[in-house]
Amino acid sequence: MKTIVRDRDFALYQGDCRELAAGLPPNSVDCVVTSPPYYGLRDYGTGTWHGGSEECSHRSARKKTRFDYSLATSPKQAGREGADASTGMWSGECPDCGALRSDNQVGMERSPEEYLNNLVSLFGTIRQTGLANSATVWVNLGDSYDKGRLRGLPWKFALLMVEDGWRLVRDVIWYKRDAVPESVKTRPTTNHEYIFMFTTSKDHYYDWYAVRQDSANVEKGWGTEKRLLRSVWDIPTEVYTEAHFATFPKSLPEMCITAGCPQRVCLVCGEPQRRNVESRSIERMDLPRSHPQWRPRRYDNGKAGDPQSPGAGQRYSEAEHLGWSKCDCNGGFRRGTVLDPFLGSGTTAIVARELNRNAIGYELNEEYCGIIQRRTSQLNLVSEQEVIL
Ligand SMILES: C[S@@+](CC[C@H](N)C(=O)[O-])C[C@H]1O[C@@H](n2cnc3c(N)ncnc32)[C@H](O)[C@@H]1O
Ligand SMILES: [Zn+2]
Ligand SMILES: [Zn+2]
Repeated sequence: MKTIVRDRDFALYQGDCRELAAGLPPNSVDCVVTSPPYYGLRDYGTGTWHGGSEECSHRSARKKTRFDYSLATSPKQAGREGADASTGMWSGECPDCGALRSDNQVGMERSPEEYLNNLVSLFGTIRQTGLANSATVWVNLGDSYDKGRLRGLPWKFALLMVEDGWRLVRDVIWYKRDAVPESVKTRPTTNHEYIFMFTTSKDHYYDWYAVRQDSANVEKGWGTEKRLLRSVWDIPTEVYTEAHFATFPKSLPEMCITAGCPQRVCLVCGEPQRRNVESRSIERMDLPRSHPQWRPRRYDNGKAGDPQSPGAGQRYSEAEHLGWSKCDCNGGFRRGTVLDPFLGSGTTAIVARELNRNAIGYELNEEYCGIIQRRTSQLNLVSEQEVIL
């Protein structure tokens, strides 16, 4: 374990996230946002050889695995992965010299079951050590193929988490409008991944107000209505060229953190400050005439509104943020903290800083730690005053 960054609002540790998570202080994590490596998709290059011959290149230990590139997020990345694929993945022992390979990497396990167990036990550790009671945990996973057969690992993972005691409260489909074309002609091309939202308590933090979306009416140019965030997220992929792996687009952690990570947490009782919102619903015909949503009378369901739910669209709803909940502790607050145990190129930490949350990151690959350090230091550090209010 190595401490790479220790800023006021961001700590980065290099090492195996399963070991690092065991050392989290109690109630130090309010939200987890992460994208673990997908099973058998690529080698992040963290393995080392022990024993055997110094001269041997261990090349025969390269397995000729057929990679599935369907999850690549751009043709450019697909090309890179293609290049990786010619080298294949490693087996545990070199057939030439007998050297043994050790690797703490998640995603390179010998079987999908072992992979899933590793993931579930990681999240179990986080829950036992640092996770706050009101925390939300967001896990982005894509599926992969084994000889033309879909493995179904994202849902296997989600159900194993449930067996392990988690509350699964949402499956989100990340819809990738701009997904890479595939050449496979026997099935529809992949252009989605999953984001699972887990909690441990039904009293979890969720700022629905902050992630409201413009309604379809606004999209059609009819005014200013908002609707609640839905379960299909249309997020364009972004290519980050410095890292040769799938980084997620910033809007993805942005949504999870905005909704699922409190801005302030009481230092004494550990309760997050929750938003007080007043909702008002009013007949449109009762709005002032100058209001863009005003209608002269109740209108025909067949022509306007949703014919499935008569009366829908006749009322106009508005929510007003009134302030934040307060406990009686008077002991001050800390900012909410996001953990990403597979930080990769650092996207979660960058977004956390932009959203005024603290972040903790783990990453096994030293080279990526360098990338994260550079990327996060390009953003201005926050002052101490801003960190603890
Ligand atoms: C899919 S990438 C994460 C990408 C990240 N969401 C981003 O936007 O850059 C997964 C990362 O997990 C790292 N990793 C794999 N096994 C790990 C382990 N046991 N502990 C910590 N990090 C690990 C890999 O090196 C890789 O950088
Ligand atoms: Zn060898
Ligand atoms: Zn309190």
